[in-house]
Amino acid sequence: MSELSVNHLLGIKYLNKDDIKLIFETADHFKEVINRPIKKVPSLRDITIANLFFENSTRTKLSFELAEKRLSADVINFSASQSSVKKGETLIDTVNNILSMKVDMVVMRHPNPGASVFLSQHVNARIINAGDGAHEHPTQALLDSYSIRERLGEVKGKKVVIVGDILHSRVALSNIFALQLQGAEVMVCGPKTLLPKYIDKLGVKVETNLLKALNWCDVANMLRVQNERMEVNYFPSTREYTQQYGVTMDVLNSLKKEITIMHPGPINRGVEITSEVADSNQAIILNQVENGVAVRMAIIYLLASKIKQ
Ligand code: NCD
Repeated sequence: MSELSVNHLLGIKYLNKDDIKLIFETADHFKEVINRPIKKVPSLRDITIANLFFENSTRTKLSFELAEKRLSADVINFSASQSSVKKGETLIDTVNNILSMKVDMVVMRHPNPGASVFLSQHVNARIINAGDGAHEHPTQALLDSYSIRERLGEVKGKKVVIVGDILHSRVALSNIFALQLQGAEVMVCGPKTLLPKYIDKLGVKVETNLLKALNWCDVANMLRVQNERMEVNYFPSTREYTQQYGVTMDVLNSLKKEITIMHPGPINRGVEITSEVADSNQAIILNQVENGVAVRMAIIYLLASKIKQ
């Protein structure tokens, strides 16, 4: 297969196994490119991409921008806090105004679940979802799986536990879909209050005891507690959360085997993982960041090649 089955990247749930394979093979090529002295290719010289961020972001925004520039695309950036959205403009009007400047692709982060699907139905551009509320964050899940494949050889058959705030996490949902599609076994672990009621329908194992979960897995993906999406208290205190669900070197050393630690960032050092764990050889957190650029280059390149046809 040489092209994606989709015209937009709205969520992992719209992809198939071959799409992921193609994205990873293309990312392998771009990973080699970004490690060369000249890190740029001319592939997207005639493409203009708008990065629309209606919600805060550091690494995802930088990673997309870098990926676009490494492909030689023209890039425009927009953040909601500095825009006319604050003056009451609708999402469609904002985006149509930007598109009338002849933009080919839109990378959007938005607080509302489904915002990028909505956009893809109303505007004429390729859309990449860079996170829609607590729903999906497909590029994060793809770079996470790519990093597992790099560290452990393959994703198929691996046991992956996602630890923490599953309820409010788009990273969790996209990872569950992506890992299952590739034949990994998935477990979620966290306090009951941070597990969604529909969790049984997702076909994952559920565990509330961190040590049991870590002893089961090959990889633990540690999530940040999404305080900004909580309108009530889901656990008594951060200290108690850390005591029950925080990973320390002592916890890692007490396990029967060496596991791989992942984190999508931003890390709350000392809450979900300690600094020693984050900076240890078992953690692949910075590899995830590096791979993020290559994987996003692959996605942008593959979607752009469909515009040119
Ligand atoms: C995540 C996000 O924004 O969904 N971060 C990221 O994209 N790197 C996770 C988080 O905010 O905890």
